[in-house]
Amino acid sequence: MKSVAWSPSSWRSKPVAQMPGYADGAALESVEAQLAGFPPLVFAGEARKLKRALAKVAAGEAFLLQGGDCAESFAEHSADNIRDFFRVFLQMSVVLTFAAASPVIKVGRIAGQFAKPRSSDFETVDGVTLPAYRGDIVNDISFTSEGRQPDPRRQIDAYRQSAATLNLLRAFATGGYANLENAHRWMLGFVKDSPQSGRYQEVADRITETLGFMKAIGLDAEAHQELRATDFYTSHEALLLGFEQALTRIDSTTGDPYATSGHMLWVGDRTRQPDHAHVEYMRGIKNPIGLKCGPSLTPDGLLRLVDALNPENEPGRLTLICRFGAGKVEAHLPGLVRAIEREGKVVVWSCDPMHGNTVKALSGYKTRPYEQITAEISQFFDVHQAEGTYAGGVHLEMTGKNVTECTGGARSISDTELSDRYHSHCDPRLNAEQAIEVAFLVAERLKRERAARAVPAIVAAAE
Ligand code: PEP
Ligand code: CO
Repeated sequence: MKSVAWSPSSWRSKPVAQMPGYADGAALESVEAQLAGFPPLVFAGEARKLKRALAKVAAGEAFLLQGGDCAESFAEHSADNIRDFFRVFLQMSVVLTFAAASPVIKVGRIAGQFAKPRSSDFETVDGVTLPAYRGDIVNDISFTSEGRQPDPRRQIDAYRQSAATLNLLRAFATGGYANLENAHRWMLGFVKDSPQSGRYQEVADRITETLGFMKAIGLDAEAHQELRATDFYTSHEALLLGFEQALTRIDSTTGDPYATSGHMLWVGDRTRQPDHAHVEYMRGIKNPIGLKCGPSLTPDGLLRLVDALNPENEPGRLTLICRFGAGKVEAHLPGLVRAIEREGKVVVWSCDPMHGNTVKALSGYKTRPYEQITAEISQFFDVHQAEGTYAGGVHLEMTGKNVTECTGGARSISDTELSDRYHSHCDPRLNAEQAIEVAFLVAERLKRERAARAVPAIVAAAE
């Protein structure tokens, strides 16, 4: 792609997909001007720190855990929901850290994950056709003509909600809640009765034992902040470009432009056309970024996007989030991996086992069978093992609540049970138990891979 001058607004001269049409242009402009004057939600220095952490993932030295709601909602914004999500995220990450002995880079789909791409611009119910719901930052989920009208003031509400969520997450991450000495206390809540609780208890016991040993030799949480606190980052799909532009700031340390709406932003599978507006915006910001890779992406198409989005081949800049669907990984992933390897590109390979596995249940609910989700993860690991590359992360839609949105898992949620607690505003999420179950599965797989990689190194050392 030809690199003409980039600016935070250069996307405006390109064709654009998936953006809402606002009836009141003046109101939109006024909202964007207001947002441009608001404080940044995250700092450039934090985004750079995440990029360095992701560079470690690209090198096979850490693992990326990314997850959260498909779409955050205004109605479900509460301290309890944030705490429950954060707790499950911590539980998953200790499972991964301890079982696989791998540092875990924690990135939430949170504090900004509001805008949704849709397969159709309209929705028809009982003969009435209205604009599709595009996330709370755009319009309302209620099926009324007023509700479905895109309203720019919602962007201000989304900004304020993101700020409040981020404030609590920062407090949890650094104010004591994430202290590893609390690993047992994170069990409080329903997960302690779950089929996974015994396995989790075991991990928590090992942590306590290890911390006891470390304390005995003089290394305790008081003195070592890495035991008391954790780095937690935010991410979302960069879909609503006017909002992203308004929150783009020039970092005073480096003079570079950063999106300050979240630490990491990604391009969706429907908006990754190389000559379109979303790729144009993303190529200029210096944050670590993700690119969703679905079945329609060819190896050449991928290389073109990699050149546009990471021309300097900077490690940690680009995470390829693969979402093919169980049974389709083998047909699509090896070609992409080989193209990247052949060209010497440095990327993080992550697996989104959610978006290629959405089906309509007989009950009419959109669901994802747990077995399909785990099958895609296994196939992702298989391909990387066969190609000699590193399966570096997972990208999940999940919640800390005991919802019934994905079928299967240890409690075998059935199609007829989906209606019990189906709360998602968009796609079906793993509930807390299913999410932890996935963490155990990934940890097992990582452990195996680490052991396999360690053997040749020992043999080589002995020679
Ligand atoms: C999403 O992550 O919520 C999403 C819409 O994914 P994709 O762009 O991969 O379809
Ligand atoms: Co989704």
